[in-house]
Amino acid sequence: PVLVVDFGAQYAQLIARRVREARVFSQIVPHTATVDEIMAKDPAAIILSGGPSSVYAEGAPAVDPRLFEQGVPVLGICYGFQAMTVALGGQVAETGLREFGRTPVNVCEAGVLLAGSPDEQATWMSHGDAVHAAPEGFAVLATSAGAPVAAFEDDERRLYGVQWHPEVKHSPLGQSTLENFLYNGAGLQPDWTPGNVIAEQVERIRARVGDARVICGLSGGVDSSVAAALVQRAIGDQLTCVFVDHGLLRAGEAEQVERDFVAAVGVKLKVVDAEERFLTALAGVTDPETKRKIIGREFIRVFEDAAREVVAEAGESGGEVKFLVQGTLYPDVVESGGGEGAANIKSHHNVGGLPDDLQFELIEPLRTLFKDEVRSVGLELGVPEAIVWRQPFPGPGLGIRIIGEVTRARLDILREADLIVREELSAAGLDREIWQCPVVLLADVRSVGVQGDGRTYGHPIVLRPVSSEDAMTADWSRLPFELLAQISNRITNEVADVNRVVLDVTSKPPGTIEWE
Ligand code: XMP
Repeated sequence: PVLVVDFGAQYAQLIARRVREARVFSQIVPHTATVDEIMAKDPAAIILSGGPSSVYAEGAPAVDPRLFEQGVPVLGICYGFQAMTVALGGQVAETGLREFGRTPVNVCEAGVLLAGSPDEQATWMSHGDAVHAAPEGFAVLATSAGAPVAAFEDDERRLYGVQWHPEVKHSPLGQSTLENFLYNGAGLQPDWTPGNVIAEQVERIRARVGDARVICGLSGGVDSSVAAALVQRAIGDQLTCVFVDHGLLRAGEAEQVERDFVAAVGVKLKVVDAEERFLTALAGVTDPETKRKIIGREFIRVFEDAAREVVAEAGESGGEVKFLVQGTLYPDVVESGGGEGAANIKSHHNVGGLPDDLQFELIEPLRTLFKDEVRSVGLELGVPEAIVWRQPFPGPGLGIRIIGEVTRARLDILREADLIVREELSAAGLDREIWQCPVVLLADVRSVGVQGDGRTYGHPIVLRPVSSEDAMTADWSRLPFELLAQISNRITNEVADVNRVVLDVTSKPPGTIEWE
């Protein structure tokens, strides 16, 4: 892979995505990884990300100069560019001229990195310090008002650097700079395609599973559906999908799975009615992390029961169920604190929420993929578009969209409101425009209203429409006022006990997408 060394900026994730858009596989490693740890991952190239520090600040992360002696091509970006300069004996200093945002640079020599660039190009910068002298052996490729050296390269040693952020869309030629590095600097081929991802995973899954049996928790969402289709492609009938109706589903969910997915992909499906069990376990619980852990645990218990049934049904011919498939994605791994050095923001039920005494080994074929990549893989596998383009819906379902205790009556209220929102968004043709729109019931909050000449004392419903590229960051969607008015009218008129609709206008960060 191409390794993106994360110096603590919000950009590492974006760099990894852009590399993948160039059809080259990439992964993120923390800056605390040693040169040996990095080399153990056999990197095809390394990109040093930006970061919030000044290279001379106390405790600022440095780059071990040995990294540049491994024969692996390296691209330094922003902070990574400066850290690289210092490690190789160049000079970084404060210029007194900070550059933030759109900044023109003059290209004095295109070299490999900036091949195809005009003499001046627009870039997006964010720096206080600047490189004043390139290290020995490097050619200066570009300068800007605030950066005497804004880009450099030593093509012989295959080391490159830019002060600006080629990964953001505000650097219009950024993608071409990254591709120059990947294809011409590092000599990589753009061959990381959905077809290759499938072929590689199919081979891996077959080798790992042998003739054991496998079950897959199917939620009807994009991730678990694509994971199931992928495993089905690898091992066919050794797979049984388990759809858990935990009572926290949206209206029509179970029916959609049977109608759209099973028909198209042809997997064996077991539907388990576990509403009673989940609601009993959740009774009296209000803390979000506790809810998540309980839901994760109950899922696993249901899978264990289902596994026993699968074995019993198979009779003599059946081996043990050794594996459980989950549709865990890369952002889930990073956000559940599995991304080495990342904080645990919340326990996604299919990652951090697993019980310690898990009896299955996990198969997570999508663990390195972003959502849009999962969608491409799904389409390639023949998963119907109605599923591939579904908006994300969290495994813990409506359980984490009721702020307060989860009860059947509250779930019914939320289900009704959620259905109205989905109907209206679809009618407005906005399904693919927005990333998703959680609908949240503030079950412990009441406010006074007036309806039909009478006083009401009901609950608010929160609309949380967001736009996002990968759920790591998000912005609130500017839905048309007419549409919001229509949704608000319908919910307050049609849903009992709800007398107010409010709009969440918070980006992520600081808010997460879900409320719990
Ligand atoms: P947050 O709330 O962390 O959500 O900003 C990011 C994305 O992940 C979804 N989400 C989950 N998906 N299990 C899942 O499968 C979970 O426990 C879970 N929690 C959040 C959320 O809907 C959004 O798309």
